[in-house]
Amino acid sequence: MRKITFVLMMMMMGLVHAEEAVPGAAGIGDSYFPSLGNGGYDVQHYTLDLAWDEATNMLSGTVTLNATAIHDLSAFNLDFLGFDISAVHLDDAPAGFSRDGRELTIQAAQPLKTGQDFSVAVSYSGVPGDGVPHYYDVFARGWTRHEQGVYVASEPNGAAFWYPVNDHPLDKATYRFEITVPQPYIVAANGLLTETRENDDTITYVWESRDPIASYLVTVNIGDFVVEKAKGPDGLPIRNYFPARVFQQGVLTFSRTPEMIAFFSEMFGPYPFEAYGVVVADRSLPFALETQTLSLFGSNTALGGASSENVIAHELAHQWFGNSVSLAEWKDIWLNEGFATYAAALWLEHTDGPEALDRYMRDLYQPLATPALALGHFLPPGDPPPDNLFNGGVYVRGAWVLHALRLRVGDEAFFDILRTYYERFQHANAATADFIAVAEEISGQSLAAFFESWLYDESVPEVPEMGLKPR
Ligand code: ARG
Ligand code: ZN
Repeated sequence: MRKITFVLMMMMMGLVHAEEAVPGAAGIGDSYFPSLGNGGYDVQHYTLDLAWDEATNMLSGTVTLNATAIHDLSAFNLDFLGFDISAVHLDDAPAGFSRDGRELTIQAAQPLKTGQDFSVAVSYSGVPGDGVPHYYDVFARGWTRHEQGVYVASEPNGAAFWYPVNDHPLDKATYRFEITVPQPYIVAANGLLTETRENDDTITYVWESRDPIASYLVTVNIGDFVVEKAKGPDGLPIRNYFPARVFQQGVLTFSRTPEMIAFFSEMFGPYPFEAYGVVVADRSLPFALETQTLSLFGSNTALGGASSENVIAHELAHQWFGNSVSLAEWKDIWLNEGFATYAAALWLEHTDGPEALDRYMRDLYQPLATPALALGHFLPPGDPPPDNLFNGGVYVRGAWVLHALRLRVGDEAFFDILRTYYERFQHANAATADFIAVAEEISGQSLAAFFESWLYDESVPEVPEMGLKPR
């Protein structure tokens, strides 16, 4: 779901002629990842009807996209790697297709007209991960089999490793999952569980997400889960999926979730989605991921007790910043990670008081101020290297951008900025310039030089208010 302005612009520039059907672009236009996503259409809805075989980790079934052409299309691409494709149907008729790496090109026998709704169904089977380069980050590999089941983590580009997709946050869509697994496995996905169907020795779980999701936040988890149900503010359904062996400790570790939701709702604006909860994989993980409405953690976090509170708050905060307010470009990842890191610091301030926040921010400043550390691991957050997107700079210095802004404009303006930014860009996409514009508008200050140095200068700016400066 996105705006159609890009094509209108191309038409005005004479690059696309309204009357002439052309292939959709092979990328959506991300400066860091030119081949991610695709041009020429806009997906509204995905139906993932997939069966999983426990013994082989084989995934098979049909994925159907409901989409709209945004210019006259003779062909268009999906992002999809691996698997054997047995058929592609375009509006129920068999369609020709070809493949080249991550790009699946589908031919439109009759050109699709601007504004035309169409459906495309891809039937396939195979073992996910075949062909995925093994240097990929563990949180980017998509469908991941482990000894006790499956989790899915795909940031930034792993969705295409398990289903055909317009793989970019600019094209969010709603989802329906029909996932068939051997009994007695349980499936947890985004949104709400709306139906279970028992077949002979398998069971089909139907999950539906009414809120649009960016593809990297789509998750399907298979395990021996025990479900804890709770209620958040205003009756928000909370469902937590714990492996049986960590259930008791998991319930304790995540027990402050409703309080956190209430706190962030007050600070940022109402919680954006129809449900929240967590899924814990039955194995230790070196990361957590803010998969929409159902954040993913390793068993280490669930068993970690109070020390896990920071990461729990972090993933929850992403539901506002990252998931509801989505990136327009991956370059701006600090808008996700800096905000979630600072939100966890705000939770600490709420629970432990202002001195705790002061200490926390001082601790975060140290590695930024130490050249040997800063150079390799805490890079300026505004333009992280595409192959080191999640370096510590986007988290730590990203959080510091916000704290420094708060010190500069004062609490009242600062929290007004956060609320206004969220209100304006929820369920949509934002870029760094959008945040800066809101900050300038609300504070009435000219902040170009402030953001320039905090986001892009090689060395971290001084913080005279706290007597901090780089060595
Ligand atoms: N968005 C995830 C997060 O919440 C990314 C995980 C990356 N993990 C890491 N160790 N850098 O931070
Ligand atoms: Zn994060």
